[in-house]
Amino acid sequence: MNQIPSSEDSDLAGKASGVIDYFRNRLKAGLPYRATASGAWAASRPKHLFDFFTAVNLSRFRCFIDLGSGDGVACCIAGLFTRAIGIESDLHLVSEAGRAAEDLKLQGRVGFICADFSTQSIQQADCLYIYPDKPLDGLERVLESWGGTLLVYGPHFPPKLFVRVKKLRLGMETLSVYGGR
Ligand SMILES: C[S@@+](CC[C@H](N)C(=O)[O-])C[C@H]1O[C@@H](n2cnc3c(N)ncnc32)[C@H](O)[C@@H]1O
Repeated sequence: MNQIPSSEDSDLAGKASGVIDYFRNRLKAGLPYRATASGAWAASRPKHLFDFFTAVNLSRFRCFIDLGSGDGVACCIAGLFTRAIGIESDLHLVSEAGRAAEDLKLQGRVGFICADFSTQSIQQADCLYIYPDKPLDGLERVLESWGGTLLVYGPHFPPKLFVRVKKLRLGMETLSVYGGR
C-alpha cells in the first residue's frame, strides 16, 4: 500500500524541486567539469542527492559539511534537511555556491568557506559528505578519532579504514554510507 504523503513531505518535495531545477538550469550553461587548484571539479546530480539524503534521513544530523563543495549543489540540497557548510578551495566555485544559496533563500542554513578542508575543524560535523577527486588516505588520518557518519558519492575512491554500513544506488550513481571504523 502506498503511504499518503504528509503536508510536511509535500512542502519538502516542493522546495526540493526548486533547488533541483536551479542546479539543472545552471548545468545548461556548460559542462560541470574543470580542473581546480586542488583537484578536479565535477558536480553531484541534484535529484539523486535529494533521493539519497531522504533515504539516509539527513535531518537526523545536526551539522553537514561537504568537503570540496564545488558549485554548492550538495550543500543546497542538504540545507533542505539540516544546517550545511561547504568548504571549497576554488574561489570562483565558492562565489557561485554562495550565489545559489542566496538565490534559493537558503542563507540561514547553508554557508560556504573558501579554504583547504584539511585546515578546517571538520570534526565538528556529525555528517561529512565528499565526492572525492582523489584517494581519501589523508582524510582518513585526520578523522581517526571522529565518530560521525561519512557519505561518499561515487565508487572511485572508497575509504580503506571506515566501515561501510550501506550502499545506495540510483541508476549509475551511488552513495556509500560509512559509520565509523
Ligand atoms: C568532484 S568535485 C565535488 C563537488 C561537490 N562536492 C559536488 O558533490 O558536486 C571535488 C571538489 O573538491 C575540491 N577540493 C579538492 N580538494 C580540496 C581541498 N583539500 N580543500 C577544498 N576543496 C577541495 C575541488 O576543487 C572540487 O571542486
